[in-house]
Amino acid sequence: MRHDLSALLETEDFRTAARRYLPRVLFEYMDRGSERETALKQGRTALDHLRIMPSVLTGSSTRDLSCNILGKTFPTPLIVAPTAIAGMIRTGGEARIASAAARVGIPVCLATQSIVPIETVARAAPGNVWFQLYIWQNRQRTLDLVERVRTAGVETLLVTVDTAVQPLRHYNRRNGFSMGFRATPRSVLDIASHPRWAWNALLRPLLQGRGVPDFPHYPEGLRPNVLRPQQDPSVRLAQDVTWQDIEHLRVFWKGNLVLKGVLSPEDVTHARRIGIDGIVVSTHGARNLDSAPAVADVLPSLADEAGNMTVIADSGIRQGSDVFKLLALGADAVMVGRLPLYGLAAGGVEGVERILNMLLDELRVTMALSGKATLSQLGLNSLLNVRGQE
Ligand SMILES: Cc1cc2nc3c(=O)[nH]c(=O)nc-3n(C[C@H](O)[C@H](O)[C@H](O)COP(=O)(O)O)c2cc1C
Repeated sequence: MRHDLSALLETEDFRTAARRYLPRVLFEYMDRGSERETALKQGRTALDHLRIMPSVLTGSSTRDLSCNILGKTFPTPLIVAPTAIAGMIRTGGEARIASAAARVGIPVCLATQSIVPIETVARAAPGNVWFQLYIWQNRQRTLDLVERVRTAGVETLLVTVDTAVQPLRHYNRRNGFSMGFRATPRSVLDIASHPRWAWNALLRPLLQGRGVPDFPHYPEGLRPNVLRPQQDPSVRLAQDVTWQDIEHLRVFWKGNLVLKGVLSPEDVTHARRIGIDGIVVSTHGARNLDSAPAVADVLPSLADEAGNMTVIADSGIRQGSDVFKLLALGADAVMVGRLPLYGLAAGGVEGVERILNMLLDELRVTMALSGKATLSQLGLNSLLNVRGQE
């Protein structure tokens, strides 16, 4: 049985449906921030303090959401962000997100730590899939993965550079989860009280002989699964990644190379100098450095510094006006992480398609009410910052 999707009208409706469907261990993993969740609150506050300045009598009766991302024209400014273990929300979750996004013309970025392999996701949305890379301690194994991704037909590689160590997410420990599930009386009860999820994501694949969901981008023999977290040091996230690693990748990878998790102007300058094609200005959805600056606060200066690089922004988008604001602050496109996951939990492929369309409709309405016909008309003068005035 599914939720009645037509009753889900705004993000909070999808989030509530997701909360009902998922065990707490997964809902909190997906929904919450890190440490005291300061970045989560501050990111929201920074967006809420921006108001949109409408222009009237512009005579525009159509809204064009098309934009240029990495030299190509896309029908909308949205990209689905990489989110590890989306496949634990529903079996085949990453492929379902990709096919829903493809129907709306939105590219998806698959995570290194996904449950569905790149080959399957690339088949679900041909030409529409990017890949997110974490650099492992063993650089050769990392390059082998990059080669595999290239063979699967991926043209855009996005390297996440803001996760030197596992962040502190205390609720995961309390819930018995840290990139692997630990059975405790509390976690077993949690799962038992969400039988629909347990059937869809765990029992059905087990009964179909597909075994415990694992992480297929890891090398054969070193592949962790959701019950057995990664042990082999060669494929643990490297803590000693430097610009030199990125320069090597730049030589090795001929397609688009994007750095995700950049927040300081000096890093943007460095990226531009070594020929990076794009940056994602991101706090990792407020899931990593809890005292990170809000994306909305740093975005204008970073976009200035970016030159010809494509600027993508994410973290905290919950409604169409948030998309409008990040584009007006200088982003060429935005990524959404949690929203497609809420949609997936609430209603599979249809749920994802619905929440993406909801966000686009909200963006169109915001543009219409503020007198904008195209995204190129959005700029700093479309916004008013009321922080400190309330
Ligand atoms: C459940 C979850 C898992 C994530 N896993 C990854 C990951 O493996 N790699 C990565 O670069 N970012 C990851 N992110 C961060 C997203 O790519 C993105 O930056 C963030 O979700 C954007 O914020 P939003 O969720 O508020 O839209 C994850 C986010 C979530 C919610």
